[in-house]
Amino acid sequence: MGKIKTGWKLPPLPLPVALLGANVSGKANFFTIVWFNMLQDDPPLVGAAMSKSHYTRQGIKDNKTFNVNMPSSSMAEIVDYCGLYPGSKVDKSNLFEVFYGELETAPMVNECAVNIECRLMDSKEFDTTELIIGEIVEVYCEEKCLAENKADYRKMDPMIFFMPESPYIKTGDVIANAFEVGKKFGQ
Ligand SMILES: Cc1cc2nc3c(=O)[nH]c(=O)nc-3n(C[C@H](O)[C@H](O)[C@H](O)COP(=O)(O)O)c2cc1C
Repeated sequence: MGKIKTGWKLPPLPLPVALLGANVSGKANFFTIVWFNMLQDDPPLVGAAMSKSHYTRQGIKDNKTFNVNMPSSSMAEIVDYCGLYPGSKVDKSNLFEVFYGELETAPMVNECAVNIECRLMDSKEFDTTELIIGEIVEVYCEEKCLAENKADYRKMDPMIFFMPESPYIKTGDVIANAFEVGKKFGQ
């Protein structure tokens, strides 16, 4: 069978699931995000595409700080809650144990294994979304998720999201090591 043009506007991409946090009117708020990624490694930049209607957006604009938290698969329920209900309707400030780092206004979720603290660097508006670009100022990792001083994804147990069915998926088996297995190709 050949290729079929699907016309789908949202391609079926596997995406990591995160919680993006910012202080809004002095209170921590978090929303579920899958449209984020690294943009550059040195200096390290992260990009997050968010709806212009999100309550969290004002907090990012006001404080010029935010953070990205990587939840484990056991947090699926609370992560989904943060993606279902806007901070304008429900108070999400007490859902997690929150701590602050050197930027002082970017609330981080203690229950998440990895917290990426960012300073707002730039942004680009589209019709309905805005790409928030942050410079990473620090990355915090739960001690028990470290192995030889590196974050161990097995211990982090992150979640992947997949359109269009919208399941939350645990990471699976290692099939090869990147930057290594390709060296064998064609030999
Ligand atoms: C699995 C999942 C993924 C989501 N990904 C995004 C995303 O990448 N960008 C976005 O703007 N909203 C995304 N959302 C929607 C927001 O999380 C949701 O609208 C949230 O209530 C906004 O919160 P706030 O208004 O308190 O900021 C996602 C929701 C879910 C459940």
